[in-house]
Amino acid sequence: MFSLPLRDDAELRPLETWHAEEFAAHLDRAREHIRPWVGQGFVTTGLEGARGTLVRYGERRAADGGGLFGIWRKGTLVGGVMFTGFDAAGGTCELGCWLEPAAEGHGLVTGACEVLLDWALVERGLHRAEWLCRAGNDRSAAVAERLGMTLEGVRREVWPYDGVRHDQQLWAVLAREWRDRRADTTR
Ligand SMILES: CC(C)(COP(=O)(O)OP(=O)(O)OC[C@H]1O[C@@H](n2cnc3c(N)ncnc32)[C@H](O)[C@@H]1OP(=O)(O)O)[C@@H](O)C(=O)NCCC(=O)NCCS
Repeated sequence: MFSLPLRDDAELRPLETWHAEEFAAHLDRAREHIRPWVGQGFVTTGLEGARGTLVRYGERRAADGGGLFGIWRKGTLVGGVMFTGFDAAGGTCELGCWLEPAAEGHGLVTGACEVLLDWALVERGLHRAEWLCRAGNDRSAAVAERLGMTLEGVRREVWPYDGVRHDQQLWAVLAREWRDRRADTTR
């Protein structure tokens, strides 16, 4: 199907309902790694749970309110990026991401997020893209920083996990900042 090349023999493609079996198998490799850091509704078990996530994102995409994109490396689904929220009228969106452990450390998510930010902030003309991560998620914060986002603040004790309420960082980049950054990197 449609795909965009990323570095390191990887591709970015829409992740859709028909990928449910592949997505379920990938979650078996990723589940414990991502569990502390992503929304708990995303950490499903089995085929029906995986299908439910894909259907939910498909419905959001149809309503122009989100979208899910998988990263395949050497033909295997290893993670992905998403618009957890997309508000064209309000001019804002929120990005999210995950990888199974073996796919970390290759710049795949940073490259995939650049594609999403180009589309949202340049092609679709949104004003601002946000990134929310649990405080202490250093790899996620490093992606936001690598994308040129600014740490705007901390939402205190908003993230319940394992009986503790954790802080959450809010990072964001504005469209003009993103365009300037892209112009600098292609110069
Ligand atoms: C967050 C997460 C996706 C980040 O993965 P990641 O591999 O660190 O991020 P990227 O794919 O962008 O890769 C960056 C790494 O590749 C390296 N890299 C290699 N080539 C690169 C390139 N051309 N460009 C950018 N980075 C490159 C970077 O140095 C960095 O490695 P380092 O941190 O060891 O220095 C991953 O840790 C994860 O899935 N965590 C659990 C789930 C989660 O936290 N999701 C986010 C919720 S907010």
